Amino acid sequence: MGFREYRIGSILFGVALSTSMVVTVYMPSLDISGVSSTATALEKQLTYGSNSGFDYGDLFLHGNDKPTKVILKKNPVTGAAMDDTAAYVFPAGTSFPSGLKHDNILGADVQALSVSMGKMDQAAEVTGGVFLVSSKVTNGVETPYVEFATATRGWGIEATLAAASETILAGAGKTMFVREGCWWCHTLLPEQTHDWQSFGRPPVLGDFNGESPTTFGSDRKAPDLLHVGSRNSSKEWMMLHFFNPRLVQPHSIMPRYDYLWGPKDKAGNVIDLVKWDEEFEAYRDGDSVYPPEVPEYADDSEIRYLMDFVLNSK
Ligand code: HEC
Repeated sequence: MGFREYRIGSILFGVALSTSMVVTVYMPSLDISGVSSTATALEKQLTYGSNSGFDYGDLFLHGNDKPTKVILKKNPVTGAAMDDTAAYVFPAGTSFPSGLKHDNILGADVQALSVSMGKMDQAAEVTGGVFLVSSKVTNGVETPYVEFATATRGWGIEATLAAASETILAGAGKTMFVREGCWWCHTLLPEQTHDWQSFGRPPVLGDFNGESPTTFGSDRKAPDLLHVGSRNSSKEWMMLHFFNPRLVQPHSIMPRYDYLWGPKDKAGNVIDLVKWDEEFEAYRDGDSVYPPEVPEYADDSEIRYLMDFVLNSK
């Protein structure tokens, strides 16, 4: 009698053991770096720079040592008008993302093109330079690659920054996203369910080559933020919502991030958070008709970095 139960138990144990052995022995042999980078992966690496999480180079996660993404409407060398082009400026000494340091993780075809067409092997951290994400079509297949524009087009760091029509500091912003724990409530990973319709295209494996950390999020208590810039691009709404979510969502559980504004606003006036709170409470209690104004943030404030990251995340 007892033997039958013993047999079932042994079979179940065997199944569990072999499954775990497959996971342990077979899975690590899958070559994930064999997956080619998509253009999104290259853009993300060049936008965020090296590690945005805890790092000895940036112990308190201030967003140091990050590249600057710029939008160019004219050629920085000749001044000739051109279609909007995103360029990634790495000032001398800025750490490179993993994909520039170890180009084999980009995937064989992307690596080969980045070297042959993009002259990526000529780039060095000590001198820095300007990068682009370009692509080449062979037999109807488009392959993205990293172009080191300082070598291929002679675009210098200063000239490119001076020609910029827009500057995006999303690399430092990603550090803010990690430091402030936004991932505690928000994900950056829409799923292949009806999420697709409301939250945009889910990422594919090749979107993550060389990204560190990936900031998928843990579980979701709030909307996915991956493409939020393309569905809610109102900078004003976001500014109010970050300063105090209760301004626009009376029952919001999201914490306020008013301290990311720093000590001064865009015009250089001191921001008095205590006074703001008093006026907000008067508004909330119905003693005053209008809520207090949210200050314009300074160009080098942490909230500016965070907004740049959130509005550009994809
Ligand atoms: C305690 C949970 C929580 C945390 C932490 C949190 N949020 Fe939110 N967030 C929410 C909720 C809930 C909403 C939905 C709107 C509301 O209730 O305010 C939201 C909405 C948003 C939206 C608008 C989304 C849309 O679809 O329009 C953005 C952008 C956003 N949060 C960014 C952030 C960022 C960046 C951080 C970190 C600095 C952060 N949130 C931290 C809970 C959170």
